[in-house]
Amino acid sequence: MKCHVKLSRIAFAFTSLVWQASCNNKPAETEKKLPEKVTFTEHIAPVLYQNCTICHRPGGNGHFDLVTYAEAKEYGPSLAYVTKNRLMPPWPADPHYTEFIGQRVMSDYDISLIENWVKQGMAEGPQDKMPALPQYPAGGSMIGTPDLILPLKPYLIKANTSDHFLLVKVPFELPRDTFASVIEFVAGPHDVVHHVNGDMIKYEFDKKKDVFAGEQITDMVEDSTIQMGFAKLQLQNDDGSWPVLQKSVVNYLPGVFALKYPEGIGGYRLPRKGAFLLNDLHYGFTKKDVTDSSHINIFFSRTPPDRPVQEFQLGTLGVSPVEPDLIIQPNTVKKVYSRYTVPQDISIITINPHMHLLGKSFKGYALTPKGDTIRLIDIPRWDFNWQYFYTFKKMVKIPAGSTIVAEGVYDNTTENHNNPFNPPQLVRDRNGSMKATDEMFQFIITYLPYKEGDENISLETH
Ligand code: HEC
Repeated sequence: MKCHVKLSRIAFAFTSLVWQASCNNKPAETEKKLPEKVTFTEHIAPVLYQNCTICHRPGGNGHFDLVTYAEAKEYGPSLAYVTKNRLMPPWPADPHYTEFIGQRVMSDYDISLIENWVKQGMAEGPQDKMPALPQYPAGGSMIGTPDLILPLKPYLIKANTSDHFLLVKVPFELPRDTFASVIEFVAGPHDVVHHVNGDMIKYEFDKKKDVFAGEQITDMVEDSTIQMGFAKLQLQNDDGSWPVLQKSVVNYLPGVFALKYPEGIGGYRLPRKGAFLLNDLHYGFTKKDVTDSSHINIFFSRTPPDRPVQEFQLGTLGVSPVEPDLIIQPNTVKKVYSRYTVPQDISIITINPHMHLLGKSFKGYALTPKGDTIRLIDIPRWDFNWQYFYTFKKMVKIPAGSTIVAEGVYDNTTENHNNPFNPPQLVRDRNGSMKATDEMFQFIITYLPYKEGDENISLETH
């Protein structure tokens, strides 16, 4: 399957965001009766601790905390509003269409609890009913103790400046070729690091003398092309040729973290000389100066990646074109799609829909040669801020000859509150430009070539 290799030349290093969600909230619905008098300690704290404090706590990325009674009370009506409208916890995919690992979906019961609590005046309740805050790893790994920590070069994010998009090189040299099971990005200041999309450059040992040469950070807005950034970082081999790039090995988004796959699935081969290329490190707005201290954790593995995860993408820069062209006239709503027929049986692990600010909805599914539809994902209300890499609970088999279809709707009217232009302007894709004001349409799929029984293997390891 030629176009399905995940090692691609560096010049095609545009891709999207990859991440894994964490805790596991099932929308299990029961006919439980609501308590007459809802209190914070008895009813609300447990709901917030299960659904919100992973982000809304000191050190989390939620900008404000929802740990104490006073904090919850201060935001009371907003809590009722965002939960009732399912804006929080952030989970844009429709859980009735397909389910994923770690999906953040609240039950109607819990939503009603918050609503009633606010209506009844937000009582505190008895102190002895107050639950303990779950234990969250302090600043570091979400998985365990890493074998190797690679810090990013510290970067000062000045107060009151607009978003930064950086290209960052994190070089490494190892005593020998090594296997790794997980490569994890740990964000420094959670509230400022928006997302990271990182690839791994694999140098052939004698083709690159010094992997540490060149700059380690460049600002993507200053460089008018990505090639300019690559040149500053001196990513090329000494003879000017391009090294091999393995895409999407280290990715991050607030509230989500690296996932360890079951034994035998996934994993990486680390070269003796290499570098991580964070080709889209996005810092958001900050009120005060902060220095980023993000780092990359590597967990070694004794076993080689027998079944390395492979990847392909439909749409922009992908294996199948966007149809019709992604040119969105002002004051229009436009539907596009991309279709790709898989030449062999595959087992899908994760999917990642990607659009920018004009995105309105996204749907992905596969049509089998027998005429069946395999559901992949439905995002009725696109949210630019939460573009998860959705991981299926069990791998999804797509038989050879099936056509994977991605459908996207873009809203380039003033109705779209995220529209970067007012009045609306013509917006299009520009050769994979990641600028939020240009558009993209991608459906990224990670998979394994199918093996008998794959569809029964659970991907949930914790
Ligand atoms: C995965 C991380 C995450 C989780 C889980 C999460 N939040 Fe948030 N929340 C954020 C971030 C980041 C923001 C600010 C950016 C935004 O609005 O998307 C936010 C914003 C908010 C806001 C302000 C919205 C606004 O428009 O200003 C409220 C209220 C809120 N969250 C409540 C909750 C509640 C209640 C829960 C749990 C039921 C929850 N959040 C779960 C990350 C999270």
